[in-house]
Amino acid sequence: MVDKMKLEEWMRPSIRTLKAYESKSIPDCVRLDANENPLPWPPGMIEQLLGSAIAFNRYPDGGAQELKEALSRYTGVPAEGILTGNGSDELIQLLMTTFGGEKGAVVIHPPTFSMYEAAARVTGTGVLEVPLLLTETGRDFRLDVEGILKAAAQPQVHMIVLCNPNNPTGTLFPREEILRIVAESGKIVIVDEAYGEFSGESVVDQIPYCPNLLVMKTFSKLFAMAALRLGYLLGQPSIIGALNRARQPFNVNSFSQKAGVIALNYGEEYAEQGRILIAELARIAEALTAFASVKVFATRANFLLFQPEDPDRVYQELIGKGFLIRTMGNLPLVGKALRLSAGLPEDNGRLIKALGEILK
Ligand SMILES: Cc1ncc(COP(=O)(O)O)c(C=O)c1O
Repeated sequence: MVDKMKLEEWMRPSIRTLKAYESKSIPDCVRLDANENPLPWPPGMIEQLLGSAIAFNRYPDGGAQELKEALSRYTGVPAEGILTGNGSDELIQLLMTTFGGEKGAVVIHPPTFSMYEAAARVTGTGVLEVPLLLTETGRDFRLDVEGILKAAAQPQVHMIVLCNPNNPTGTLFPREEILRIVAESGKIVIVDEAYGEFSGESVVDQIPYCPNLLVMKTFSKLFAMAALRLGYLLGQPSIIGALNRARQPFNVNSFSQKAGVIALNYGEEYAEQGRILIAELARIAEALTAFASVKVFATRANFLLFQPEDPDRVYQELIGKGFLIRTMGNLPLVGKALRLSAGLPEDNGRLIKALGEILK
């Protein structure tokens, strides 16, 4: 029976070429590889969450109404313009399912977050790449706005994804350029602000004026809830309504919905954590910049991209010293590079010492 199964043949062609996503886990290593917030939740939050009455025997509220109302107060966007997801990863796939597919295409700007392309491939959506441009310093990037607009003019393009600040480069793109792409492209522009809380910049205020703008956010980064898988999209009700048609009915579990509601009451505490992580990252950046052989790219997020002469050696030796960072394969414009996020203050001190020993 099993012999008769032709898995490869039966598979959709767009899936056949894919490799399963693998995330590295090395026990006992300090994890600086996933751009998370390593600080503990604000005092009292865990107790409040665990003390909440959650009906675990019932399906969650598919409309996530309480969470949407809390998000509405937090973002200023009406609840009808909010869609929550099982992490932004789910929302990225939902966007491709709804507006992509075999007849649609998305414009992305490599090097950028790998899930845009992965979700496009899974759903058979076409991908048009308009790479970033390196600035004169060679340590910063900018958007190729003209190139993006030209690509977006093709009829099969339905979406443009701008990641701001961009993962893995850390680049913050100018607001005027993003808004120009929104105004002139006529296509759905998704601005992924997963790290927006760290840069302090957002285009959420433009949603009432831009029917084609969607802003994507997550609780996985500053809000330190990567394990709970909670992300959300903000836009005008018509576009959110379209996405809702393709959404799984119970996509966000009750526990994560409650955690999101509670977390939004701790805005001040999280803002302070953001300031701590940014200061910590600056300390790491300064230490790396002292090595003439290391290229450190400008960042406005809680992580940075850097390029030592031998990235593989630095990566391996850091593991040997108890630190897991991220190797970035062969990035367009950059080549092999490394990415790390700010850890706990006490770990960062040891990291800087370890880097000093490895790079000297
Ligand atoms: C730019 C960007 N968007 C989205 C995500 C996914 O976040 P989530 O944990 O909400 O799925 C990440 C995670 O690394 C990211 O870097």
